Amino acid sequence: MQRTLSILKPDVTRRNLTGAVNARIEDAGLRIIAQKRLHLSLEEAQRFYAVHQERAFFNDLCSFMISGPVVVQVLEGENAVDRYRTVMGATNPANADEGTIRKDFAESIEANSVHGSDSLENAMKEVSFFFSEMEIVG
Ligand code: CMP
Repeated sequence: MQRTLSILKPDVTRRNLTGAVNARIEDAGLRIIAQKRLHLSLEEAQRFYAVHQERAFFNDLCSFMISGPVVVQVLEGENAVDRYRTVMGATNPANADEGTIRKDFAESIEANSVHGSDSLENAMKEVSFFFSEMEIVG
């Protein structure tokens, strides 16, 4: 059993697709064991994505992530980190497999609908960035 952090990005909340994305998550056998809707500050977005701070897309990424509400979630399931990455599809929706969230919903590489932790180690860090143990009900 693993836990991973998921973020439904502002392009999802803007288009009222929270439930549609959550259905994909649940259909894949992942359980949403914590969830909250937030409007990130610039400082929070920069801190969350600090690993990307040297990348050319960093400022645009942070601006996008604060352009509207996000929904942050903890997902639990067998092999949850890799399972969710498979359900999400490739970072660039142009390269995403058929039937994935990004193939079906993403607008661009930046407005790519969802974020998921890329390793178990990062999942633990990212979950504790947003949630306290009391907020996670497995
Ligand atoms: P995410 O999984 O949230 O992690 C970092 C994000 O940066 C990524 O999804 C993309 O939405 C965004 N991004 C924007 N441009 C690029 C790029 N050229 N390469 C990788 N990620 C990018």
